[in-house]
Order: sequence, then C-alpha cells, then structure tokens
Amino acid sequence: MEKIENIKELLKEKIKSVDSLDKLNNLKVEFLGKKGLITEINSMIKEIPKEQKKEFGMKINEVKNLFNDSYNELKNKLETQLINKKLESEAIDVTLPATKVKIGSPNILEKVIEEIEELLMTMGYDVVDGPEIEEDKYNFEMLNIPKGHPARDAQDTFYIEADEILLRSQTSPVQVRTMLEGKGKTPIRMICPGKTYRRDDDDATHSHQFMQIEGLLVDKNISLSDLKGTIDVIVKKLFGSKVETRFRPSYYQFTEPSVEVDITCFNCNKKGCNICKNTGFITVAGAGIVHPNVLRMSGYDPSIWSGFAFGFGAERMAMLKYGINDIRVFYNTNIKELESFDREVINND
Ligand code: DAH
Repeated sequence: MEKIENIKELLKEKIKSVDSLDKLNNLKVEFLGKKGLITEINSMIKEIPKEQKKEFGMKINEVKNLFNDSYNELKNKLETQLINKKLESEAIDVTLPATKVKIGSPNILEKVIEEIEELLMTMGYDVVDGPEIEEDKYNFEMLNIPKGHPARDAQDTFYIEADEILLRSQTSPVQVRTMLEGKGKTPIRMICPGKTYRRDDDDATHSHQFMQIEGLLVDKNISLSDLKGTIDVIVKKLFGSKVETRFRPSYYQFTEPSVEVDITCFNCNKKGCNICKNTGFITVAGAGIVHPNVLRMSGYDPSIWSGFAFGFGAERMAMLKYGINDIRVFYNTNIKELESFDREVINND
C-alpha cells in the first residue's frame, strides 16, 4: 500500500514537469509500459492475501485513474498548444503587399497585323501563310522579275542554295502560290502577313528581317477604284476616320499601273510636322493592278480576270501608330523598351 502511495506521489510530481507530447509519452511508458511502475505493482495482486485484495485493487485503480485523467488533460492541452503555435507561425499577413506577377502583353507588331486581319476577314478575305524559305521562281520569276532584272538589286536577300532557294524578300510570292491553288478558276481574296528578309545593313529604318502584310484580290472587272476603296478602309481603321488616301504613280514589276499609297498625316492633318517630314503625307504601302503576265503565269486568263494587290510594311505601320522612331526596337528584345510602347498614340475614332 505504501508503495502504491509512493507511486501516486511520484506520478503527481512528474506530471508537473511534462511540457511536451514526447515527455507525456515517456511518462506513459514509465508508469503503464510493460515494465511500468503501475504495471509492475498491478502484477503483485496475485501475492496479496484475499481480504486485502479489494482495497489493494481500489488503490491501484485510484492511481490508474489519476494517470488517465492527467494524461488526457495534458494531451489535450499540449496538442492545442501545438496547433496554436503552428497557426501562429503559418499565419498569412494579408496586409503585406502581394508579389507582383509579370503579365505579358501582345507584341505591338502582332496587334497591328491582327487589326488588319480582323478587318479584312469581315470583308471576306482569307488569312493565308506562305514559306519563309522560298524558291526564286515564286519570289521573283513568276512575279515578272526574271533573272538578271535590275529590280532584283533592291531586293537582294539571303540565299540558301545557289540562285534558287532563298529567304523570301517580300510576301508577294504568296500571291503566286494562292493563284496556283485557285487553278485559274476561283476568285481570290487573301491577305498574308509574314516575315521577310533583305540583305540590308540594320539602321533606324532598315532591318534585315521585317514583316509585310500582303493582300491580293482577283475577280472580274477589278479597277483601281476598288483598290483605293479597300486601302481607304484599312488606313481609316488603323489611323482614324479623318485620314485620307492618296495614290502616287510608282513602279512594281508585278502590278500595272503601280502606286505608292500615301495617307494624310494623322498627326498634323496635312499641315506638316516631323512625322511626315513636313510633307503632310506618309507613305504606307505599295500597290497596284495585278500585271497580266503575273495572272497568266499563275493560270488566270487576263482577258477574263483582273485583280489588285497591295503590300504594307508591318513595322512601319506599328511605328507610325505607336510613335516609334527606330525599327530595331522590334528585334533587340529589350523588354523594357517594348513595354514602354504598349500604348496607343493614335486614337481611333
Ligand atoms: N512586295 C513589294 C515590296 O516588297 C510591296 C508591294 C508592292 C506589294 C506592290 C504588292 C504590290 O502586292 O502590289 O516592295
């Protein structure tokens, strides 16, 4: 009995110093484990005389109960403490500034191209693709520019295989490819935006790689006024409804007549400023009526079919629209610089 009393006192004493779940577990082993103090004394019951057994048993139960009650109470307390600590250390301070996630924005060249694409699609045009690695035949010959023609000088490009395979110097070969697919039978309305290449030294207005937006319409009874109306819709969409279109005579081998497309300066409205170099006009495209030779070579009988074609420089359009004065910013991958142009300078009205 005395021994039990000692164990009880010892238990009371030890409970006081339990301040972790580990220590609580150790306490359990010490008192109730296989060789625990309570377990050991419990096994002594066999040796106790019958008449004292009851009292002995009750006394042991008392200790056991004390242990169980203390154990449960402590376990609850310690577990709650642990959870609270965890919550505290993992708490999120909603007053802290959020981490900024960088969000990309559409490339402004793409934006200009998409704007033209969307507009022309509503007018029944297909947006088509053509190869950047092109044959001399499509890039030049079938556009009425035979080998040795002086017009080739201005369109010197990068050759992949001798004189035959090259990086296209213009998107105009896609005109030929589209007509060949039409097999001289179907009317055509297509635009083709895409990369083009020239053997130019890079400077503020030249880049060895740039983008063009080609357009071709082949149908019956097509005239310059159809071309002018179409171009007018495009430039008004891009630069505002006050902008007017002017055709200036020009020369391209695959169109006859050929024109340079000028628009009235959206900045000064013909008064003259630094954007239009004081002329009041800005050149935005080359265009013309498709040359009969080109129609014929691609299987369209020029006595039945006629058409117009145009080619915009995508960078030039973006530069004008966003107030950029150096074509190299499109290709030097300086994100900061590109981001700074992510705004519209011209308001479409
Ligand atoms: N391909 C011409 C160039 O790169 C631009 C051009 C002019 C395209 C007249 C055309 C056109 O479709 O009709 O200089």
